[in-house]
Formats: sequence, C-alpha cells, structure tokens
Amino acid sequence: MLTLEVKDIVVHYGLVEALHGVSFKIDAGKIVALIGSNGAGKSTTLKALMGLKKLTSGSVVLDGKRIDGTHAAQRVGMGIALSPEGRRLFPRMSVWENLMVGAHTVHSADKRHRALERVYELFPRVQERRNQLAGSLSGGEQQMVAIGRAMMSEPQILMLDEPSLGIAPKIVSEIANAIRRLNQEAGISVILVEQNARLALKMSDDAYVFEQGVVIRSGSGQELLHDTFVQKAFLGI
Ligand SMILES: Nc1ncnc2c1ncn2[C@@H]1O[C@H](COP(=O)(O)OP(=O)(O)OP(=O)(O)O)[C@@H](O)[C@H]1O
Ligand SMILES: [Mg+2]
Repeated sequence: MLTLEVKDIVVHYGLVEALHGVSFKIDAGKIVALIGSNGAGKSTTLKALMGLKKLTSGSVVLDGKRIDGTHAAQRVGMGIALSPEGRRLFPRMSVWENLMVGAHTVHSADKRHRALERVYELFPRVQERRNQLAGSLSGGEQQMVAIGRAMMSEPQILMLDEPSLGIAPKIVSEIANAIRRLNQEAGISVILVEQNARLALKMSDDAYVFEQGVVIRSGSGQELLHDTFVQKAFLGI
C-alpha cells in the first residue's frame, strides 16, 4: 500500500508556467478526484506524477521517498500507472496487443497472464473483442481498453485522465463500477481526473479543485458536493 504526496510542484511548458505550486496527498487505498475547468492543470499534474513531465521545483514523494528524479518506466515499476487523456490506443493494433503494451515492463509471463485475466474479468467486453482492431471499437470500449492497459502493470496507484469523456451514460456507469471494484477488491488507489464533477465527487474519498494551476479547494467528496462554490462552478446548482 503506497502513499503519494505531491509537494508544491511547479511545472512549465517552455516559458509558460502551468502549475504554480500544487500540493496534495493520496492516502493508500483511496479514490481521489481532481476536478477543475479546462486548462486548470489536471492532466499536467498526472503527467508530472507519472514522470512524463519534469518538475521545475517541488517534489513527489512515494512512501516517504522522493521519486521526482525518476523516469516514467521506473515509476511503472514502483506501482504507478496512467490511463491518459484521449485514450491514446494504437488503432491498427488488436485489443490484446494494446493491452500488452501496458505490460512491456512486466517480465514474468505468469504476472502478465494474471493481469490480463483481471482486466477480462473486470471488462468482459474487452475479452469479447480481444482480437478486434482497437480503432474499430466504440468510444466506451476503447476507454475500457485504455484502463485495462494501465492495469497490465498491476499498479497500486492507478491514474485515470477523463475516463468518462464523450462516452454514453450507460457505459460511464459500467466504467465507474469497474473503478469502484478495482479500489474495493484490490485496494488499488485511484486518482480520478474528471469533467463530470458530480460523478467524480460521488465516487471519491478526497477531492481537490484546480483552477489556473493551483488547488483552490479540497475536502472529502461529500463535503465538496455540498460546497456552494463547487455547486455553482461545476455542478450547475
Ligand atoms: N503540450 C503543451 N504545451 C504548452 N502548453 C500546454 C501543453 N499542455 C498543456 N498546456 C497548458 O498548461 C495548462 C494546463 O493544461 P492541462 O492540460 O494540464 O489542463 P487540464 O486541467 O487537464 O484541462 P482539460 O480539462 O482541458 O483537460 C493550460 O494552460 C494549457 O494550455
Ligand atoms: Mg486534461
């Protein structure tokens, strides 16, 4: 079980500062939601946690150890995985081949097999379509494959960037149930970035609201669901 702490991180794209000193904590076994409007810095935060974006300053601490100097592949080995915004599947590869991309750091065939079985158990539609080209799946099915690919390294911290984006409501609830099961049955911590703030807050133990590169509010999911500012800005109440 891993605890992840983000301490005062600053991240730039060229000269433009996208994160101005973001701090938060993910306790082991929790679902943590990051919400906020477009361009607030949610995806940048996940990229920084995954090691895909360098910090200008600040630190990322996993179980008391600084890991911000490490590469993405090393962080996969430490138990962190990301399902990126926009899914980023290889459309001309089969579903199975896409899943195996997520297992490229896993050297044991037994472990790969176990992870694959778990993905198929959680997403039976993915198993049904395992030989189909990923590009021929519906948006919802592609999202399941993207989450499944991230699960293939058997992470303890799974980061999901906009899993409900552009997906039919019925499939959104299927995916939400799968995320809850992953969390409850396997004790995996989940960092959930979502435009659908209501869904994210309902699902999460803790939540953070981003605005223009800073965290402007935090609390339990339930607290933020009842916060007047959050209701006005994100819940249309
Ligand atoms: N590759 C990039 N090059 C330059 N600037 C970028 C790049 N990616 C993001 N930014 C900028 O960094 C800031 C944060 O963007 P980020 O993608 O993290 O926001 P977000 O909260 O994920 O937004 P969205 O809800 O639209 O996905 C924005 O001002 C954005 O324009
Ligand atoms: Mg984003």
